[in-house]
Amino acid sequence: MVETNEKRKIAVVGVGVIGASWVAYFLAHGFDVAATDPAEGAERQLRTLVDRFWPALERMGLKEGASRDRLRFYQSVAETVAGAYLVQENGPERHDIKRALIAEIDAFAPPDALIATSSSGIVISDIQDAAKRPERVLLGHPFNPPHLIPLVEVIGGRLTSEDAISRAMDFYNSIGKRAIHIRKEVKGHVANRLQAALWREAFYLVKEGVVSVSDLDTAIASGPGLRWALLGPFMNLELSGGTGGIAHMLEHLGPPIDSWWKDLGDVTIDHELITQLAQGVQEELGARDIVAVQAERDDVLLSLLALKEKSSGL
Ligand SMILES: NC(=O)c1ccc[n+]([C@@H]2O[C@H](COP(=O)([O-])OP(=O)(O)OC[C@H]3O[C@@H](n4cnc5c(N)ncnc54)[C@H](O)[C@@H]3O)[C@@H](O)[C@H]2O)c1
Repeated sequence: MVETNEKRKIAVVGVGVIGASWVAYFLAHGFDVAATDPAEGAERQLRTLVDRFWPALERMGLKEGASRDRLRFYQSVAETVAGAYLVQENGPERHDIKRALIAEIDAFAPPDALIATSSSGIVISDIQDAAKRPERVLLGHPFNPPHLIPLVEVIGGRLTSEDAISRAMDFYNSIGKRAIHIRKEVKGHVANRLQAALWREAFYLVKEGVVSVSDLDTAIASGPGLRWALLGPFMNLELSGGTGGIAHMLEHLGPPIDSWWKDLGDVTIDHELITQLAQGVQEELGARDIVAVQAERDDVLLSLLALKEKSSGL
């Protein structure tokens, strides 16, 4: 938990799928949380979602002062961001809306408050100049759901200060997140680009009839996915290379990997492919209920997170 008083309040603007999950996470870490969202019934929906996420957060371990009573919902952005150490913006993924929200948050937040947007695809340099203090606007991109997945990608734009980046990194890391600093603005940031690269080949292999949807899912979930949850691709390559590490591994297997790269497929997400993939998933699900599958995934994920936390470096 962040201990100094000036860090007691976090503001969350926009509490849909991502914002509600952030709210629950910040509450579980002992902050006062102020939230706003113009949607009809947003406060009720937010409190329902926080209640739904709370048992998982209890299992992860509530931090000192954690309480759902510390959530305040306001009708205006101005009241929400007043006195906040950090504002996490989670409004709709639209350029014009993000610019307007950043301008409004900047006008009412304390001058040194950090303004982080969760945006999956918007480039900070394109929106930060809507603020009078653009140096404190940055990206704090979480992975869904933010109350469970530790990764946060931190990216500054052209006008973001080094100080804001380092304060944001420190903040997220201090509340149990694993923040990474992405040094250049690229479409989709880093983790989504990696997912997109895998999806392209997965979609291609299914489309070409090389493998079924179900077998492809098994290939990842019962194969390399198990290692990837523990170590990233580079450290796994280091291990695969034995005593010679990644250098030996790539000298040895580099040429075949090069030839696989040249053979990788390209695919367009059209209606036909969507139908094929959706049917494949239904066959894979069979009689299982998707809600039960999600609950079981989250249950095992919590156990895995607890094991990782106990390890010395995973
Ligand atoms: N869904 C994901 O998997 C995911 C993952 C990471 C990041 N993100 C990013 O998080 C952000 C939110 O995505 P989401 O999936 O939660 O969308 P969502 O549609 O569930 O939520 C958006 C919320 O913003 C609210 N809103 C609309 N106008 C607003 C305003 N002027 N001020 C405040 N709130 C306003 C809406 O009422 C809605 O509740 C997006 O930028 C998205 O790119 C999404």
